[in-house]
Amino acid sequence: MPVGDEAVVLARVLSCPELFDVESVEEAEEVARKLVEGELEPPLEFFGLRSEAVNEVLAVTEGPEGRNVAPLGLRVFNGELGAVLYPGSRTRRNFEETGRMVACVNPNPVDFLRALFDELPIRECGGVPVAEGTRAFLVLERVRESGGGDDPLRVELEPVDWGLLHPRPRALVRGEGALVEALVEFTRLHLGESHARRCREALEVVKRTVGSREYREAVKRLEERLGARS
Ligand SMILES: Cc1cc2nc3c(=O)[nH]c(=O)nc-3n(C[C@H](O)[C@H](O)[C@H](O)COP(=O)(O)O)c2cc1C
Repeated sequence: MPVGDEAVVLARVLSCPELFDVESVEEAEEVARKLVEGELEPPLEFFGLRSEAVNEVLAVTEGPEGRNVAPLGLRVFNGELGAVLYPGSRTRRNFEETGRMVACVNPNPVDFLRALFDELPIRECGGVPVAEGTRAFLVLERVRESGGGDDPLRVELEPVDWGLLHPRPRALVRGEGALVEALVEFTRLHLGESHARRCREALEVVKRTVGSREYREAVKRLEERLGARS
């Protein structure tokens, strides 16, 4: 059963009516009721996740390492959810045991630092452990996996539950900041060769983390200009 105050869910529906084809407040109220009662599955964008992108979330796991929270890149490509878990983390050891994690959507990178420094509290929300500052969460379970051992563990995930705690959830996406970074470097190309290198490095981050047509086109245009210079 989803976790969420109906007023918060309604505010979210009203803020993104296009996701539900909603044209009036009455229709939005009906959609909000269906969402809260579990009659309607919200699209991933409802939780502030970007499609065709790696969304940086805070993953809460439980298991042999205890209750833990750490940053994780949640991959949303072709309508499927996935993650790559590198060896050695508590997150991976817990997930290997339980096949379950809570993906907490939080737009504040300072909370990511607090998580890495073991300073971010985890609280129960409708029986689900979520990190402080969470605006929306998805309880995710393992569908299939490959790799593992000393190699990265690649997992496909499916949502089994969700919660909305704030009407404006938004996940961090590295590629968005990286495109801005690339553009800043682009404006400094005349100041020295290091700016072209930094611009290219930032574009590599964009390519790795956002795959939408709009972003691919932006990268191509910048690379063409960079290529034309050398
Ligand atoms: C923004 C960000 C994204 C990250 N994404 C991943 C990831 O997708 N997979 C992974 O294994 N580690 C990722 N990490 C690294 C882990 O968060 C890091 O190894 C952390 O120390 C693991 O903590 P834990 O031992 O408490 O699980 C990421 C780190 C940051 C800051």
